[in-house]
Amino acid sequence: MHVATSLLAQVDAAIGGKTGVNLPEGKNLVGAYWQPLAVLCDTDTLSTLPPEEYRCGLGEVAKYHWLGGGRLDDLDLDDRVAACVQIKADVVASDEREGGRRAILNYGHTLAHAIETAGGHGLRHGEAVAIGLIYAAEVACRLGRIDAAAVAEHRRVVGGYDLPTTVPPELTDDEVFELFARDKKATREVTFVLDGPDGVEVVGGIAEALLRDALAALR
Ligand SMILES: NC(=O)c1ccc[n+]([C@@H]2O[C@H](COP(=O)([O-])OP(=O)(O)OC[C@H]3O[C@@H](n4cnc5c(N)ncnc54)[C@H](O)[C@@H]3O)[C@@H](O)[C@H]2O)c1
Ligand SMILES: [Zn+2]
Repeated sequence: MHVATSLLAQVDAAIGGKTGVNLPEGKNLVGAYWQPLAVLCDTDTLSTLPPEEYRCGLGEVAKYHWLGGGRLDDLDLDDRVAACVQIKADVVASDEREGGRRAILNYGHTLAHAIETAGGHGLRHGEAVAIGLIYAAEVACRLGRIDAAAVAEHRRVVGGYDLPTTVPPELTDDEVFELFARDKKATREVTFVLDGPDGVEVVGGIAEALLRDALAALR
């Protein structure tokens, strides 16, 4: 049984049965799928959670707005956590071993992983995801998948949680693209999880010039 006491654990890590350990070579390199009998999320425990840990969890909460959550910021904390749990549980139930759909849970994570691999630049995982959500919106807009109002909605939600919306200035565009390219070796091409007319889905084959232009919008 998982007893989740951080916001990140309650809305994300404790649900879905992914258990991974980090190796010196990288994060989560060894792991197994193992579903707990139950997950207990008591939001009373969050009263002692350090503010920076809380902000970290909010980055994952923010992503659920585009995974079917809608206006989660209008809900009180209990209902918001419950809504996030429901979305994650539904996605995992439909694709436990990540054959396809489960990958949408990585919304905002492509740029986030690049920022983290670059050393984090003082950002927590959830903060890096927040920046990645804005980037995914800017990319999707340039592909004609979403309109400017949808990009503004991403900025409103992420900013509303007091999360960062710009790339750390010391992380150059070239460094970001080198890190994207490193991902590419494993997967043949850089893929992004992007919003669009059919909702959030995995998209590949995006031109580097477009990706660079979108990154400029986060400076
Ligand atoms: N399996 C998945 O799908 C998935 C998804 C996201 C993250 N993760 C993993 O989850 C881990 C991060 O989870 P986390 O953020 O819960 O990390 P954590 O368990 O390390 O907790 C973060 C910090 O908060 C403290 N803390 C936790 N609850 C507290 C409370 N109620 N009051 C005071 N302090 C409290 C902890 O002692 C720790 O210092 C990472 O290893 C990450 O890779 C897994
Ligand atoms: Zn995450």
